[in-house]
Amino acid sequence: MPAASGLPGSTGTRVKSWLALTATQGAYAMPAPQRFAFVCINQRDPSHPRPSCAANGAADVFHELREEQGRRVDTSFKVVASGCTEACMVGPVIAIFPDNVWYGGVIEQDVPEIVDHLQGGPPVERLRLRGDEWDLRPPEMENRPPPTA
Ligand code: FES
Repeated sequence: MPAASGLPGSTGTRVKSWLALTATQGAYAMPAPQRFAFVCINQRDPSHPRPSCAANGAADVFHELREEQGRRVDTSFKVVASGCTEACMVGPVIAIFPDNVWYGGVIEQDVPEIVDHLQGGPPVERLRLRGDEWDLRPPEMENRPPPTA
């Protein structure tokens, strides 16, 4: 006989957990996220002069953000993998919207503070990108014009 949810095994258990969670929130519909964390996981060819967030540990940061969200059982924000957001020299880069807050050089250990921000706390000032960090380029690209929008 199948599980009460009609789904076998652990999938049925996860569905029951989700239903129990949403029932305590008074609705079955998932509300729209209040914030988004766009995590650049771009990977360039290693011969490219610009570094890539993926090569600097972005996938581990992305994974840890999702894990921390799960531990806190909070659906008020969404963690999304993104492509390059142009601050490659100081990656891994995370953009928090609608706050328009940008973090650089993020490592896994920074994740709890970033999730505090995603849950409505203040931005993590020590991780915020400065304006001049957007203009950094590898020596091989110093004489090229800056990228255009
Ligand atoms: S590769 Fe991540 S910001 Fe460019």
